[in-house]
Amino acid sequence: MQNLEQILIDAQRDFTACNNLVDLEQAKAKYLGKSGALTELLKGLGKLSNEERPAAGAAINVVKQGVEQALLAKRDAILAAEQAQKLAAETLDVTLPARGKSRGGLHPVTLTLQRIEELFHSIGFEVAEGPEIETDFYNFTALNIPEDHPARAMHDTFYVDDQHVLRTHTSPVQVHFMQDREPPLRIIAPGRVYRVDSDATHSPMFHQVEGLWVDDQVSFANLKGVVQDFLQRFFERDDLVVRFRPSFFPFTEPSAEMDMSWNGGWLEIGGCGMVHPNVLGHVGIDAEKYRGFAFGLGVERLAMLRYGVNDLRLFFDNDLRFLKQFS
Ligand code: FA5
Repeated sequence: MQNLEQILIDAQRDFTACNNLVDLEQAKAKYLGKSGALTELLKGLGKLSNEERPAAGAAINVVKQGVEQALLAKRDAILAAEQAQKLAAETLDVTLPARGKSRGGLHPVTLTLQRIEELFHSIGFEVAEGPEIETDFYNFTALNIPEDHPARAMHDTFYVDDQHVLRTHTSPVQVHFMQDREPPLRIIAPGRVYRVDSDATHSPMFHQVEGLWVDDQVSFANLKGVVQDFLQRFFERDDLVVRFRPSFFPFTEPSAEMDMSWNGGWLEIGGCGMVHPNVLGHVGIDAEKYRGFAFGLGVERLAMLRYGVNDLRLFFDNDLRFLKQFS
């Protein structure tokens, strides 16, 4: 009984040393457990006389309450500390900027096509379209490239079946349009074309834009003017010069390849010429009365030059790091 005060002091010290509930339970057992110090004392009450017992019991209970209070206080402190730790770990910074939605952008080839259409539209050209799977007739024969003619080898063609090909150029759209309409005609025909071709400047699928102007007074001089004016506006450079190099296409006569001045040199951007009388004949246009010019430009080539892209394949890799630069 003389130890009562010491028990309280020991219990308070032991509880204070605990950092978690497990340790605290063990410390508690030392005083309040089955054979804890206070439990033993309470068991010993029976051995006291009736006179001594009430006072001793009361004294033990006072200490027991003190121990229980210290225990509860420590348990609350541990729980509060654990809670605080948990809250700190789960902190949510409500001032962080929201994730938001990132904006998409148009593909550089689409942007280039839109720009081409806009510029030609402004000088009175209509936009025409044709199928990407063409018959042999439209892709070749109607364009003065008969079967077994060596000119067919100029294009490495994807054949769909005996009669159908993936169009190798946009020139067949000329034929469709001239069959459907009477001159005067002034169109551009942008679209996808396909060739068995693949390196840094050639892609198996690429875009061309065809131009066609048929009227009774159209000359090669008009062709040069239209193309040069277009390129100067497209690249926003008044000093840009276009060079016409004699060439051969079965569907034009005379024919030329077009180069444009670039960084002190020349770059090929397409083919052109006066529509061949045989082509006009195929679509029932009187070649004595009407003449026309046509040209075909590589759209990716124009996009590469305008945006300073040195590998054509970048346009089709769909790498967002590349595409995001155009949005
Ligand atoms: C033609 O395709 C003719 N139809 C153009 C034409 C139209 C001539 C009307 C006369 C009258 P060519 O095969 O040269 O021509 O192709 C034209 C342009 O397409 C080339 O100058 C080049 O810029 C582009 N081109 C050709 N092959 C590829 C390819 N594999 N990948 C990307 N661009 C290409």
